[in-house]
Amino acid sequence: MMDGRPIRILGVAGSLREASYNRRLVRLAAAATPDGAELIEATGLADVEPFNADLEESGFPPGVAHFARQVLDSDAVFFATPEYNGSVPGQLKNALDWLSRADGGPTVGSLRDSAFYGRPVAVVSASDGQFGATWARDELMKVLKTQGARVLAEPKLALAAANVAFADDGTLLSADAGGRLSGLVAALVDQVRALRTAREAAGAT
Ligand code: FNR
Repeated sequence: MMDGRPIRILGVAGSLREASYNRRLVRLAAAATPDGAELIEATGLADVEPFNADLEESGFPPGVAHFARQVLDSDAVFFATPEYNGSVPGQLKNALDWLSRADGGPTVGSLRDSAFYGRPVAVVSASDGQFGATWARDELMKVLKTQGARVLAEPKLALAAANVAFADDGTLLSADAGGRLSGLVAALVDQVRALRTAREAAGAT
């Protein structure tokens, strides 16, 4: 029987600042989410403790546990990241390092333990520079692939000149950029549906 649960996408902005252009992209992605799916903005990235392998013995500290739970409860994750010095912002990378050991238990360290293993993910990026944080986008996709996520590569959105890319109502001025954003969200939803169908078919045999 078809799994009729709404598809739950977690939206993660890699920037901590409230007025972040990347946070705006997450919110536009939420607005563009098709029927049958919902995109909820993650909370608590700022509270994820610094990764320390010594702490793993006693399980996740509270900030990590809160953030990990949101990922583990999602069907897919949508990231929008800025670029700091040519790479992924440190706090986001720190959270991903924790989540690569999602159980926090005795089997830590294997690929299977990542909260992202097998999970569909998509990455967009934005910066006020001319390349739209494309290096950070590429690196974030690499980190997620390393953890065994199903990373969607297309359509690509690396939003350049983000300081002048949004209208007063928060929408994107470029129809092409807007189309890429909604196309990526739709592709993520399609990927989750395809996985559910494949799992159900496997369960039925
Ligand atoms: C930046 N910025 C930046 N931009 C870029 O395109 N490439 C880069 O390497 C960097 N490096 C960088 C380092 C640090 C420490 C800061 C604070 C900023 C500029 C960055 O793209 C800009 O601040 C964006 O507005 C950040 O994204 P949010 O916060 O608007 O989502």
